[in-house]
Amino acid sequence: MKDRTLAITGATSGIGKATSARLAGDFDKIILLVRNVEKAENFKDELLEKHENLCIDIVECDLSNLVSVQTAIDTIQLKYEKIDCLINNAGVVSLSKKTTKDGFEMMMATNYIGHYLLTHHLFRLVMNSKTKQIVIVSSNAYAFTTLGRNYFTGNGNPMNLYGRSKLATLYFMQELHERFSDVGLHVTAVHPGAVSTNLGKTPQNEKFGRLVYGVLTPFFQTPAGGAESTILAVRDKEKYAGHYMHVGKDIPLKPHGKSYYVRKQLIRDTMDELNLNTFMER
Ligand SMILES: NC(=O)c1ccc[n+]([C@@H]2O[C@H](COP(=O)([O-])OP(=O)(O)OC[C@H]3O[C@@H](n4cnc5c(N)ncnc54)[C@H](OP(=O)(O)O)[C@@H]3O)[C@@H](O)[C@H]2O)c1
Repeated sequence: MKDRTLAITGATSGIGKATSARLAGDFDKIILLVRNVEKAENFKDELLEKHENLCIDIVECDLSNLVSVQTAIDTIQLKYEKIDCLINNAGVVSLSKKTTKDGFEMMMATNYIGHYLLTHHLFRLVMNSKTKQIVIVSSNAYAFTTLGRNYFTGNGNPMNLYGRSKLATLYFMQELHERFSDVGLHVTAVHPGAVSTNLGKTPQNEKFGRLVYGVLTPFFQTPAGGAESTILAVRDKEKYAGHYMHVGKDIPLKPHGKSYYVRKQLIRDTMDELNLNTFMER
């Protein structure tokens, strides 16, 4: 193991925090892509207590804001020549309809579009590494919805909108695998399970969130348990490349989750929205 670099989004809470803590010993450098730098500084201190030689870089990146994502990309491109593993973990559940500055529905923007742009511009660094790995934290919530129309801005109930954004991440994984597995990319999507985290808890619905998690806690995993699927994917990249997986077991995608036509349309639309001429910058 020499000079291995991990980049991860959403490492300041829940599954991402647990994943980073577990993987810290496997890497020499960790880039924490975060929207809350103060939380990340505290987490950095925690990590350094156990891994004093680890090089930890905090890069501000609000995935719901394209300017912020681009600034993070520029920072990383200036400092790094390769990324061995990129984990697209951050995610949001918003119980009320929110539109981002860029005009996208909040969950689609954060869970899919921001990560798409990040991956697009960091792709060259991933492909410069020996490992060439991307792990996407998706969700079985994809199963209950289709993309439908106007999926970047669209209306719907919160769980449908969340499911759509996660469905988009599954199409993204399949596209990456189809296009680049033959040149050594290892891309895996995982479902972490039902995990007790901060997901869906906002200042507006904190009481409700606490109540729901409080009642359901016996049925939820801890964040450490929720990190298991990502960790398995990172540590066994060959085995899980191109798969959608939960704790080592393949999850067969429902027919709509593997629609070739819808996937191609989504990728075309995403490239149009982001003014990109190629699929992933190399
Ligand atoms: N929990 C579950 O049962 C479950 C089930 C299936 C899938 N998942 C997926 O697992 C992943 C991790 O979620 P979690 O359960 O660990 O939730 P969490 O505790 O709320 O953590 C989410 C992480 O994403 C970050 N984040 C949210 N919005 C962001 C933005 N605009 N820009 C940058 N970072 C942002 C959060 O940052 P802050 O710390 O600043 O809030 C936090 O670090 C998500 O992709 C989620 O969809 C979770």
